[in-house]
Order: sequence, then structure tokens, then C-alpha cells
Amino acid sequence: MTHNRAFPRPPSRAAKTFHGVHIETLLRTNEVMASSRAGLPDELAGHEIPPDAPSPGLPDGPGYPRVVQAWLWLKKPTWFLDRCSRAYGDLFTLRLPFGMNMVHITRPELVKAVFGGDNNVLRAGEANATILEPLVGPHSVLVLDGPEHLRQRKLILPAFHGDRMRAWETAVREITRTEIARWPAGKPFALRPSMQSITLDVIVRVVFGMDASARRDELRRHILAVSGLGRNPFLLFATRDRKLGPHAPWARFIRARDALDAALAAEIRQRRDAPDLEQRNDVLSQLLLAKDDQGRAMTDEEVRDELVTLLFAGHETTATSLAWAFDLLLHNPRVLRRLVSDLDSGALEYLDATIMETLRVRPVVALVDRHVRQAVRIGEQTIPAGAVACPNIYLVQRRADLYQDPAVFDPDRFVGQTPPAFGWFPFGGGIRRCLGASFATFEMRIVIPEVLHAVTLRPASRRPARIRREAVTFVPHDGARCVVTGRGLGMAARAGRRISLASGNVTRDSPRRLYTPS
Ligand code: HEM
Repeated sequence: MTHNRAFPRPPSRAAKTFHGVHIETLLRTNEVMASSRAGLPDELAGHEIPPDAPSPGLPDGPGYPRVVQAWLWLKKPTWFLDRCSRAYGDLFTLRLPFGMNMVHITRPELVKAVFGGDNNVLRAGEANATILEPLVGPHSVLVLDGPEHLRQRKLILPAFHGDRMRAWETAVREITRTEIARWPAGKPFALRPSMQSITLDVIVRVVFGMDASARRDELRRHILAVSGLGRNPFLLFATRDRKLGPHAPWARFIRARDALDAALAAEIRQRRDAPDLEQRNDVLSQLLLAKDDQGRAMTDEEVRDELVTLLFAGHETTATSLAWAFDLLLHNPRVLRRLVSDLDSGALEYLDATIMETLRVRPVVALVDRHVRQAVRIGEQTIPAGAVACPNIYLVQRRADLYQDPAVFDPDRFVGQTPPAFGWFPFGGGIRRCLGASFATFEMRIVIPEVLHAVTLRPASRRPARIRREAVTFVPHDGARCVVTGRGLGMAARAGRRISLASGNVTRDSPRRLYTPS
């Protein structure tokens, strides 16, 4: 069997959407679907505009040529966003090449309107497919819309239930300890790759349920090959429709993806026949056992696409958030001391607040996007069909009217406080809210105390890392470099205390507040 035949692929939807063709076709041929927003306040609900209404214009935005805007968006994203937000206010349009118009939304009530809007009109799957479908496949929950999307979501969600996750705790702890043992003493090193190694091992272990074995190492190698190549999706885009030979990035990406597909196909086949399938706790086994409302199980192709989705949506995002957490903590000794002291007494509130504040001030995913299928009213503004509506996580979470000194890292702002409604949404929202949000915070809650317990760290540079874009994420420009200055007693020793993980409720409690949907 060739790799390609392991999971035959229908023609890519993404290729057709890139120049807007797919959306246009849909607009011409589809009738308005029934609204799913019953009960939302009128002034907020994303209203469809009657087809015969005059064609609305886009919100204002910078007037530079499209290619210049694209360059700024790729290379200086935070500078560009901050500037646009100051100049144009709560709604502005970035005009990018190929006619792509991104309408950035930075006011909580308008974000609410998008998240509560009609999912048939505001299509996240279509927007995601543009970049992600070649990797995650056509059945992925990320690229589907409507009832198909809901079906996949319902099939996946139980695999991340709190009780199930607690069974993964020992594995997360062990993996973290093994990684920390590899850190060099006294020499600067980047934390982010190390955090990636932890979260990848965790995901391979808990998603696939694979313990140390040659097959697990092989799978890990395939995942790293694909994610290395996929790190620059723009390079892939630039070469995807061109015949540039077997060494072009696109051709290499397809080869790596097909090799991963073949490894996954073998794993899925074996697992279907596993005698202990029903007793297993891993996500793959749960996906194979899951049934939809009609009693139908997922096909191998569907399982493959969801596995790849979970792997790629889950491991780098969590790793980067962890790297940001340490970068911020190491550059804010007061906060670090307070965290260590609270962990020492077994309290978790400050740890939760630290995680929330990290995700606020350094959101890894800067925005979410929804393709506008038919002109839609958001607040007082009408957004025309064909545009992409983007609730902007980065800008909303830095609003001075929501957060005092918004650029300052200050977990205290979340102690005993719930975040402002639609003012904190690092995991997106509505029916598309991140499926792995609980899992990501669960992992962060284990890894952060483990590190603080095991080693004493100091930052390798005086200033916190700058925000740099990598593919669709915001990452620390230097990988969050630090130095191990002590081992065994960890940060707690420096503070004259010991973090008693075993006796505190760090090991036993499940994350509470962080599960609250935004
Ligand atoms: C700190 C870590 C993470 C962050 C910041 C993050 C952020 C996000 C965001 C912003 C979205 C888009 C939501 C929207 O469109 O409204 C999303 C979707 C998603 N995430 Fe995460 N994520 C993280 C970790 C994870 C993990 C660990 C997994 C799984 C193992 C995961 C799986 C998914 C999936 C499957 C979706 C698609 C949901 C849908 O379309 O219905 N994520 N995530």
C-alpha cells in the first residue's frame, strides 16, 4: 500500500478557498440557512443582511498597498496591530494579497456578537481550511462547519473529560522530570524546545497511549518532520501550486505528511484489534469507541484527521504558553516569589492566576477567524460577504478599559476575580472554543510546579523575550532562554522553602476556575 492510499484524500477545499473562489461559489449557490442564534439580544446577534440590501463597505483600515500590509502583519504583527488599534478603534480592516480582507474586532461586545453569531454565516472551518487542511485533512474538526463540525466535536470531547485526564497525571509528571534532568547546568539554553519535547511526549503518550517503544519513537520522528516543515505555511503556500521539483518545500511537506499518515494508519489498524481497547484511557482508543447520535463510529480517515488535529493543535501551543510563563516569571521576581510561596503552602489560586495572566498578556494564538459567508451586522457595523471576521485575542486582552496597566504581567489581577466577559478568550469561543483548553491548563498546572521544584533558574537576558510570529502563533523571539543555577531543591530553596507537591493538593485537585468557558 502506498502512503497516499493509506488515507485517500478528496480534492482540497483549501486550494479553492485561497483566492476566494470557493466562498464566491457558495454565495451564489446557497440559500440562507436557518439561524442558530435564537434568544440572543438583537443589538448583539450577528445579523444576516437581506440579499437585496446595498453592498456594505469594509471598516476603515490602513491604506498601504496589500503587499506592505502583509509584510507588516507577518514581520511586525504586534507593532502593526497596536498601531491600527490606536488609529482605527474597535474595528479595522487589514487588506492582504489575493483579495483577503481581515476585519479585526477588538471590543468585547462585538466579540460576543461573533461568538454567538450564526455559525452558518460566520464559518470558522472555511477560514481554518485555507491554511490547515493539507495537514489536518478534510474530516478534521478544525476545518468543518455546521452539523458535520458538531458531530466531530461531540465524538472527541468525552476523551478529554476531567476524570480521564487525571489518569494522565503521572505520565505528565514523569515526562517533565525526565526532560528537566537533561537541562545543562550553568549554561544558557532555550526553554521552548524543551517544553515542546515535554508536550509532544505527553501527547504521544496520552493521545496514542504509546509507552516507550520503537513505534513511538518513529511516530515522534514523523510528527517532528511534518511540524518542522509546516512551521512556515506561507513558504508552503508559495510553492503548493507550482511544479518546483521534489526538493521544493511543498513536495517535501507532502512526503513527510504521507509518511506520518502511513504510521498512523498502521497504529489505527492495530488499535482497532487490541483486546483491551475498551479498558484503555488514551484518546485514540476513545475515538475508536465513540459513537454519534445515529450510533455510527468514526471511519479510519476521520480518526486519522482528528489525531493529526489534536497533535498539531495541542503540542506547540501548550509548549509555547509554558515557555512564556517561565519567561515572564523569571523576569518578575516578586511574582515568582509569591508563586513559590503559595505552592509551598499547597494553595493553587496563584498558580491559576499566573497561568491566566500568561495567556492574557502573551496569547499564543493572536486571533480567531470566521469567514463571512453573507453580509452580517456586528454591533453597528456591517461586514460584507467574503471578508474574514477576526476577534482579536491579543488586542482585546490588552484593553486599558478592561485591565489596568495592560502590558504589565500581574497575576494578582486574577486572584479572586473572574475575567471580564469576552475580555479574556485565549482559547477562542462559542461552539468553536478550543477542545483542548482543559487539557492545556491541566498540563501547565503540573509542569510549572515540577520545574520550580526541581531547579533554580535565572533568565539568560535582562529583558523579557520579544513577541515574534511563527506560523500562526506568537512565540518568544529567543525561545525563552534561561540558565539552571541550582538543582534538587529548586526555586523553593532560594526562597527558603520547599514546595511540597506530594502533600499539597497540586497533585490531586483538578483545575477548577480555568475550566470556566470564556
Ligand atoms: C495553551 C494552549 C492552547 C491554546 C492557546 C489554544 C488555542 C486555541 C484557539 C484560539 C482555538 C480556536 C478557537 C476558535 O476558533 O474560537 C483552538 C481550537 C482548537 N484547539 Fe486549541 N489551544 C491550545 C491547546 C490545545 C490542546 C492541548 C488541544 C488538544 C489536545 C487543542 C485542540 C484544539 C482543537 C481540536 C480546536 C478546534 C475546535 C473547533 O474548531 O471546534 N488545543 N485552540
